[in-house]
Amino acid sequence: MKIELMPRLRMAADLVPAGARLADVGTDHAYLPAALILKGKIPWAIAADLRRGPLDRAWATVREYGLTGKVAFRLCDGLTGIRPDEVDAAAIAGMGGETIASILSAAPWTREEDVPLILQPMSSMPELRGWLQANGFSIQEERLAKEGDTLYTALLVRAGEMPPLSPAELWAGKNSGDPLRGEWLDRWIARTGRALEGMAQGRGEEVLHRRRALEEVREGLIKMKEEWEVCQK
Ligand SMILES: C[S@@+](CC[C@H](N)C(=O)[O-])C[C@H]1O[C@@H](n2cnc3c(N)ncnc32)[C@H](O)[C@@H]1O
Repeated sequence: MKIELMPRLRMAADLVPAGARLADVGTDHAYLPAALILKGKIPWAIAADLRRGPLDRAWATVREYGLTGKVAFRLCDGLTGIRPDEVDAAAIAGMGGETIASILSAAPWTREEDVPLILQPMSSMPELRGWLQANGFSIQEERLAKEGDTLYTALLVRAGEMPPLSPAELWAGKNSGDPLRGEWLDRWIARTGRALEGMAQGRGEEVLHRRRALEEVREGLIKMKEEWEVCQK
């Protein structure tokens, strides 16, 4: 038996270290740990969720695929119900960037023990990258995936320093050879352009300050796109 993951979760699954005991925080259906165990990539996982309903769905998946005993369940906020000695890696996927940051902030052992973290934010990406940078984490790798018309990112993060990210890199991550990178940058360029248009009529010191900051981001994104195109030739 096998679970065919959609591209977003497959991207996150690919970043999970082989052989790791995985904590999947905000597991919902537990598709991520179940697919990885069925594939033989990981031996065991903890499926954790804040709410009973999603955890019931996780339980149903585990039963359906005959994985009883290979997945433990935790009803808890973030990583609060998980001990550092129980897991070798943690995934937090399908949540807002600020929620992910607050979950990590409440579990300083993830940094102290240098636990590989697979983070798949759905929003607030500049805030998440900024928080990681300011709190002793290093983004080792970033991947992209497309489902329908939507692009998603996933980060492999470890404890440690990283060279400071530029304002544009906080928004879109570092340049990489990912085939979706050009499209990803185009979307951020368009999005920041629309945001700047929305601010065009604004007055006052604060709006001016925000506009300048966003202009700097957009210029950086355009430069990254040009550099990326050169690398593709
Ligand atoms: C959109 S689902 C994502 C499910 C799966 N991880 C994925 O990426 O497809 C988000 C899940 O996170 C759970 N969640 C939200 N905040 C949480 C928190 N602080 N701690 C644990 N789970 C949380 C929700 O209950 C929900 O089941």
